Amino acid sequence: MTTKQRSDASALLSSPRRLFFLVLAAVFLAEAAVMVVLPMVVAGAEHLPAATIADALLLTLLVAPFLWWLIVRPLRSTAIREQARSVAIVSNAVDGIITINEHALVESFNPAAEQIFGYSEEEMLGQPLTALIPERYREAHRRGLERLRSTGESDAAGQTLEGHGLKKDGREFPLELSISTWKAGKERFFTGIVRDIAERKQAEEMQADFAAMIAHDLRSPLTATMSTATMLEDGLFGTVTEEQKKWLVKVQSNIRNLVDLVNDFLDLSKLEAGHLALATENVDFDALVQNHLDYYLALANNKNISLKNRVDPALPQIRADSRRLDQLLSNLMSNAIKFTGEGGTIEVGAVQQNWSEIRIWIKDTGIGIPPEEIPQLFQKYKQTTSGKTSEQKGTGLGLVICKMIVEAHGGKISVESQPGKGSTFTISLKSGNSQ
Ligand SMILES: Nc1ncnc2c1ncn2[C@@H]1O[C@H](COP(=O)(O)OP(=O)(O)OP(=O)(O)O)[C@@H](O)[C@H]1O
Ligand SMILES: [Mg+2]
Repeated sequence: MTTKQRSDASALLSSPRRLFFLVLAAVFLAEAAVMVVLPMVVAGAEHLPAATIADALLLTLLVAPFLWWLIVRPLRSTAIREQARSVAIVSNAVDGIITINEHALVESFNPAAEQIFGYSEEEMLGQPLTALIPERYREAHRRGLERLRSTGESDAAGQTLEGHGLKKDGREFPLELSISTWKAGKERFFTGIVRDIAERKQAEEMQADFAAMIAHDLRSPLTATMSTATMLEDGLFGTVTEEQKKWLVKVQSNIRNLVDLVNDFLDLSKLEAGHLALATENVDFDALVQNHLDYYLALANNKNISLKNRVDPALPQIRADSRRLDQLLSNLMSNAIKFTGEGGTIEVGAVQQNWSEIRIWIKDTGIGIPPEEIPQLFQKYKQTTSGKTSEQKGTGLGLVICKMIVEAHGGKISVESQPGKGSTFTISLKSGNSQ
């Protein structure tokens, strides 16, 4: 390893005698300085006879082996032990360990790295790291290293990242990488611990597919049960008493919740797997909003909430997947209704913000969201403290789906909120989505 030679410990290992004689020469020089030069420069200091000086130097020479035995030997054996320990760790590690210098040239490449990438240590030593990086990521890697060299800052150091590696046979594979930086003298080095995660990714995908399959198979019997309950309630199988009707309505509502949950889950797994193909078309957003407001009118009236359509009449048609936009509005509207109390207001608006952007907002005067809970809002199954205690229970998937739909359209979703005053969810879509 080239890096080893740079450290003091490795100097002790590679040329202990040289080091020892250097120390001895320094001692001789110091003695000579004290015995010969000092009396010349310090007034009144006694000049020593040449024989005394020779005796002193001879004595130093005689005690040299003792000095070796006392100082250098134990230091050397400690260095040998430490080196053997780190070589054993690095060689037997199941993860690839690669060290590069500031010029991104490989300084060490352990056996696990050989296994992962298919190159031998000899092939890689002194070679640029880019050989292990797929072409399309090389520029980002170069820029990252450049930044680190000039500012000493790194986005990657100290973190575990997921990325892609390139094997010797040209195959790409997913990897997990953690990077640490260290210095020897003035030189800086980077050590990366690399793990091939191809199998783990495959297992995750299979698990997600399996879960999606189960969810999918649950939907049909649920829908069938739902229609049976409706037929029962409608009296198709005989007269139903008021009490029975009350319970049938509860059964239907519970089944509806389950169907919604299964649908959300299916959407999510499709979106996560990137399988969601958008059926893009020209959408009359104003009409879409009005449909939703009409749909939620009865619910809103129940809570004395007023609904307002603030879509700019001049808004051009939006180029988007109308079914997904519909789903987006449903999720945001149902949240707004759910989390707005008696006598509140909900406003849905949209405007062409500038030539490159359309802004859509859903604003309510509801319970609001505490600022510290906002960052987790778009994560799966996350509900705010107030959301959890809300009368109408949810699953915490609605906003994740919204985010994925918006991002699938190349847009962004954000929220501003004040507890007790209300929340505004804002979506910006690129104007490439409008016509
Ligand atoms: N308009 C809003 N006002 C206040 N809190 C909100 C609002 N919208 C969302 N939240 C908070 O964010 C949480 C997550 O919302 P999300 O829509 O993802 O889940 P949910 O409504 O609880 O369940 P689901 O939509 O899956 O049925 C909610 O539980 C609630 O705490
Ligand atoms: Mg919701």
